[in-house]
Amino acid sequence: METIRVRAAKPYDVRIGRGILGTLPDILFPAGSDAPAEPLMIVTDGNVAPRYLEGLERGFDAAGHPAHAAVFSAGEPLKSGRALFALLSRMARAGLSRDSIVVALGGGVVGDFAGFAASVYMRGCGFVQAPTSLLAQVDSSVGGKVGVNLREGKNLVGSFHSPLCVVCDTATLGSLPDREMVSGLAEVVKYGLIRDASLFETLENAFRDAPGGISRGGAGRMPPGGVRERLLGDGALLDSLVARSVRMKSEIVGEDERETGLRMILNFGHTFGHALEQLTGYRRYLHGEAVLVGMKMAVELSASAGTLPPADRERALAFLDLFRVPPLGRIDCDAMVSQMGRDKKKKAGEIRFVLLRGIGEAEIVAGVGESAVVESVRAVRDR
Ligand SMILES: NC(=O)c1ccc[n+]([C@@H]2O[C@H](COP(=O)([O-])OP(=O)(O)OC[C@H]3O[C@@H](n4cnc5c(N)ncnc54)[C@H](O)[C@@H]3O)[C@@H](O)[C@H]2O)c1
Repeated sequence: METIRVRAAKPYDVRIGRGILGTLPDILFPAGSDAPAEPLMIVTDGNVAPRYLEGLERGFDAAGHPAHAAVFSAGEPLKSGRALFALLSRMARAGLSRDSIVVALGGGVVGDFAGFAASVYMRGCGFVQAPTSLLAQVDSSVGGKVGVNLREGKNLVGSFHSPLCVVCDTATLGSLPDREMVSGLAEVVKYGLIRDASLFETLENAFRDAPGGISRGGAGRMPPGGVRERLLGDGALLDSLVARSVRMKSEIVGEDERETGLRMILNFGHTFGHALEQLTGYRRYLHGEAVLVGMKMAVELSASAGTLPPADRERALAFLDLFRVPPLGRIDCDAMVSQMGRDKKKKAGEIRFVLLRGIGEAEIVAGVGESAVVESVRAVRDR
């Protein structure tokens, strides 16, 4: 097991390892501790509960701290005001106090939702992240951002609320569907592209000779299930990708918790990706899939802006092209760029883009011309 300290205003540890979910009760309530038996609540969803809830409940029972459980339907609609108030009422009925702990057991949706509930319940109670999706392990469970959606837009209501600790049990990824695996891997690729060339190289090597890998040629050619098979087939690789990603995110968050500067580089590919998700009604793409497409557009924009050398553009695109994601079809490039403006309530020229200077090096650039942004969308659509 590896432990990484996140140096936020309220520091916390992220533990990464295989089969470590069951250690959570002992982490929170070490033997011999005289922590009062405040009620605690595990929040999870209908896909995760049948696999991992019972074992965790047994662990809390054995530690002398029986847990309440709230199981919600899986999916993004959970991040709504209605579900939030339903959870808050359940917490109140179960007698949770300010000293209670909410355990978010699931993907990024459960983490954002339960974490936000914990941040507002009695003006803030404790919470713990037990992420079970790759995206949540490498990204959303670290950094303290929690929130829910409004009909008017995603993540419009939120707060910064650091968890007491994060427990990434990589064995839980064994039940994750292939598309979800690709979606999480996109964020790992992002870390490589923006800040860690050697991580990017590790990824290239990992997928070079896989069926449909880099050396085989042709876009979107990983066979269905191929990413899942490759990552689950090499536990050491998967664990190290999670650990390296967490280390990088914790470094960035440690330097800029409130996203006033450096943390913005984590938005690489996301400005395009969010616009794509919105334009397709959040139905066609999973978050990481949209980010994957968005990163191709950001690579094209970096190349056309002259910051990214042609050889690095080729290399980044050759890797990003491996993965099977829903096609862009005849997406309207101008509409997509206007959508970015609406998202940020700015014109494209005023949006700050994260551009690459090379593999492993990013910068934040303002004043990018709107036509260049449209062209980068077109370049990916028409390729
Ligand atoms: N707070 C942040 O910093 C941050 C960062 C990135 C993304 N996010 C948010 O994260 C959310 C996306 O997270 P996600 O991709 O994990 O989505 P998700 O939580 O919907 O999980 C994806 C799917 O996988 C299922 N699942 C999760 N773990 C599983 C497992 N071990 N076995 C089988 N199925 C499993 C879930 O039930 C769900 O159907 C979005 O709402 C996004 O806004 C937040």
